Amino acid sequence: MADAGAPAALEAAGLRKTYGDFVAVEDVGLSLAPGASLALVGESGSGKTTTARMIAGLEAPTAGTVRFDGRVLPGRRARTAVRGSFAGDVQMVFQDPYASLDRHQRVADSISEVLAHHTDLRGSALARRTAELLDQVGLTAGQARSLPRALSGGQRQRVAIARAVAVRPRVLVLDEAVAALDVSVQAQIVTLLRELREQSDTAYLFITHDLGIVQHICEDIAVMHRGRIIERGRTLSVLERPGAAYTRKLIDSVPRRGWTPKRGATA
Ligand SMILES: Nc1ncnc2c1ncn2[C@@H]1O[C@H](COP(=O)(O)OP(=O)(O)OP(=O)(O)O)[C@@H](O)[C@H]1O
Ligand SMILES: [Mg+2]
Repeated sequence: MADAGAPAALEAAGLRKTYGDFVAVEDVGLSLAPGASLALVGESGSGKTTTARMIAGLEAPTAGTVRFDGRVLPGRRARTAVRGSFAGDVQMVFQDPYASLDRHQRVADSISEVLAHHTDLRGSALARRTAELLDQVGLTAGQARSLPRALSGGQRQRVAIARAVAVRPRVLVLDEAVAALDVSVQAQIVTLLRELREQSDTAYLFITHDLGIVQHICEDIAVMHRGRIIERGRTLSVLERPGAAYTRKLIDSVPRRGWTPKRGATA
């Protein structure tokens, strides 16, 4: 996963989360090198979102640590000002972008706002960077002037992605970010994510149910089952030759939509 010797963008160790007696996540460790792409897959309830929320600092781990370039992420109770300074470390994109967008704010303004908050850009430099981001995620000038309700689900997800990459995070966590989209729109967003990934050394943690798309985005894969990571490796080799019986079952349960693991198809 991470290159030996290269400092990890993200290092999560011994993550555990319990809700009362229920263990949602147990002893999860992840290491992402700059520019790495890891798919986190597993059935519903296996602990993917809980893991992601601990990595993003939205949920305090019961045990374990999360480090970015060796620095420990402050917990949920830390002052907002402290947590805000970690925005450049980790950003998260969710399944429903509408919920995270201000419905009264025009698209371009919502991107400028993030930039103004986390960078020194002002005035024309701010406008230039906003336009650049809009262009990068494939939104038109007309869409940039729109309110979120005037956009399609795929377009809204482009806005959420632009806001997330605006602060050039070390790690971008996408939790079922394309799950609610039509297949053709999914493919467009997957292509966009691949392009963005190639343009920066941000590490991607891509959470999905959909084994059919992981090979298009992620070089590596980790399989979660009942709160634990039970298998990990190169995406293609795991999909072609799963080691764990559970992984094989997961692969067999995927509606095929005509995919077969193909050597060399990984981004
Ligand atoms: N706040 C909470 N209180 C109690 N239980 C919780 C809480 N959050 C998550 N859980 C439980 O922890 C387990 C893991 O949930 P999580 O959302 O991480 O799963 P997931 O892998 O993301 O599933 P899905 O694919 O459906 O999104 C589930 O059994 C869930 O019910
Ligand atoms: Mg989830």
